[in-house]
Amino acid sequence: MELEKNVFVGTYARAPVVIQSGKGCELYDVDGKEYPDMTAGIAVYSLGHGDPDWVNAMIEQAHTLTHVGNLYYSIPQVRLEFYLIYLYGCDSWKAPPVANSGTEANEAAIKFARKFQRFSHPDKKLPATEFIAFTHSFHGRTMGSVALTSKEHYRLPFEPVMPGVKFIEYGNFEEAKKAIQHGKTAAVFIEPIQGEGGIYSATKDFLRALRTACDDAGALLVFDEVQCRLGRTGHLWLVRPLV
Ligand SMILES: Cc1ncc(COP(=O)(O)O)c(C=O)c1O
Repeated sequence: MELEKNVFVGTYARAPVVIQSGKGCELYDVDGKEYPDMTAGIAVYSLGHGDPDWVNAMIEQAHTLTHVGNLYYSIPQVRLEFYLIYLYGCDSWKAPPVANSGTEANEAAIKFARKFQRFSHPDKKLPATEFIAFTHSFHGRTMGSVALTSKEHYRLPFEPVMPGVKFIEYGNFEEAKKAIQHGKTAAVFIEPIQGEGGIYSATKDFLRALRTACDDAGALLVFDEVQCRLGRTGHLWLVRPLV
């Protein structure tokens, strides 16, 4: 822990424990002390540590091919997209490219929203470019995602960030409806259950009402399920069965 201070800039406030290994949902520190893993990274691996199927798949792939850039076709990539679409239960969809991290997924969603507005309104000089996010939100640390992150602690040191983001009180539909405007709002970003900001859940009614307001205004609705998908609530996806 002392050595770490010499080489890291101190971005994270860490608990004073050095984790060495994990098995299933148990973690072990360097002294062999066992801890139940209550965080799963930061809510990222639902399979636990050392899941045998995952380990075997990783080993097999590592022996086969390390990486291939997006300049070429790759069978596992296409297979994964088919599988995700199948799991999502929406045959007619084309899935967006898989991202390396939550913040990149949100950056991609920001760009998709801007592009969607531009292509949906080719006649407009300035299509909708603005975004709505919610109080207590966390969408990542890159410049677009951090602009959608309400907590000032994450955002203020990097200002000016992407302009045109309005924060609405989480769960306040009246305020959200007023803010979602045709020709102005490109997309609304929401965590159906907020993670970093505290465990706040949106109601089904709120999410459904947002869906309608966005559809009426021609805005996209982006569900950031980085912390609440892949089985973490008992459903594979959180919002798919709701909205
Ligand atoms: C809701 C949400 N979105 C985005 C992110 C950013 O994900 P990543 O750290 O993989 O960039 C997080 C990370 O905790 C998150 O909780």
